[in-house]
Amino acid sequence: MKMRSIHDQWSSRLAFILAATGSAVGLGNIWKFPYMAGQNGGGAFVLIYLACIFLIGIPIMIAEVMLGRRARQNPINAMATLAEQENRNPGWKLIGWSGTLAGFIIFSFYSVISGWTLYYVYLSLNHGFSSLSMEESQSLFQKMVENPYGLITCHTLFAGMTLGVVALGIQNGLERAVKVLMPGLLLLLLLLLGYSMSYGSFGETLRFLFQPDWNHLSEQSVLAAMGQAFFTLSLASGAIMVYGSYLPSDTSIPRTCIIVALSDTSIALLSGLVIFPIVFAQGMTPASGPGLIFQTLPVAFGAMPGGQWFAFLFFILFVFAAWTSSISMVEPGVSWLAENHGWTRPRASVMIGFGGWLVGLGTVFSFNLWQEFTILGKTFFECLDYLTSNLMLPLGGMAIAIFACWKLSTNSTRNELNLPDSYEFNLWRWVTGILAPFSVLLVCLNSLGVF
Ligand code: TRP
Repeated sequence: MKMRSIHDQWSSRLAFILAATGSAVGLGNIWKFPYMAGQNGGGAFVLIYLACIFLIGIPIMIAEVMLGRRARQNPINAMATLAEQENRNPGWKLIGWSGTLAGFIIFSFYSVISGWTLYYVYLSLNHGFSSLSMEESQSLFQKMVENPYGLITCHTLFAGMTLGVVALGIQNGLERAVKVLMPGLLLLLLLLLGYSMSYGSFGETLRFLFQPDWNHLSEQSVLAAMGQAFFTLSLASGAIMVYGSYLPSDTSIPRTCIIVALSDTSIALLSGLVIFPIVFAQGMTPASGPGLIFQTLPVAFGAMPGGQWFAFLFFILFVFAAWTSSISMVEPGVSWLAENHGWTRPRASVMIGFGGWLVGLGTVFSFNLWQEFTILGKTFFECLDYLTSNLMLPLGGMAIAIFACWKLSTNSTRNELNLPDSYEFNLWRWVTGILAPFSVLLVCLNSLGVF
């Protein structure tokens, strides 16, 4: 098989760190982490989530970036090439397929939720949230999700923005944008933290997030915490593999991945620390689900002097965080169509974008017209979320770990990871090859009620 790549390399290690952090930091940190922690009882969930990031997420991330850089192609071809080079079963290519498909499915609902953030940019200008009460905020949110036309408009806009960037090629625009936007987002979150600490119930938040109450933890919460670790690091969906394929060869993969994962985790925890003081101060229930941040933050903005402008800035940065993530979900599919089928990038982007947009309509309707239509008690959106985060990503990650540790020759791995110290190398192999896949298997079986 010919090694073909239509891509450039990142201009530097920093560019990769920013792009991978851009992919990792998104709705998962600011929107999903707080409401999942809220729904799953707080402290114990957070602790398991952190354990999953460090013991499963980071090692698998290192493995995935390594596979991408070794093959320097889109994930489907990358896995096919590596399997062939190492004389392994061509079936390993399924890792590439399942990842690319997971990225596509996630894009379909991600674009709808990102549409909400676009709508809140509009609301911050139009409404301003001045002296907003919690009831008013909840009704603003409710009105938004009850209206399918509004949701479709925002979803269409966001899908268009994503595919626009992907069509143009991600290099210049993306690199330049994330360099400014990521630090901006961090700054605003810190500012909001200051507000939450002084006006909200900060003590109660610390207890809720960091004092584990094991009685609250079900098998499903453990699975959810692991799924969230995969989701937030953008693992097993081709995204990190395809970004790894543009990484200069002299960059240390382990060090780079640790930086990305730590930044991602800090932003998730920070979001929790910003949101829960407001939740508790307002007497809201932490388990209120996907609307959590859209209902709480406007109340905080409404009470601040100049809050309208902070709200505007925050939601703009939030849109950008979502944007840099959604780009990475479709990139594997687009690069596959472009590299394998000779499509132009714009044509591939339009096809994938339109497909994702269409599937996304199901998510739009699951908040209104199809609210009552459930499979196993889950709406269409919840089904897609469960299927990807709790099944496809963990199982894909397990396969990546097994392939990287047991099917790739030690020489190839050692070269690519550039870890001359055999202690570090063995530690990585042990954690990635045995501990991580075994933990994933255990959590999956446990959630199925096998033991
Ligand atoms: N990590 C992103 C977030 O937390 C979401 C994301 C981007 C993603 N690319 C992905 C999730 C690929 C799964 C697969 O918002």
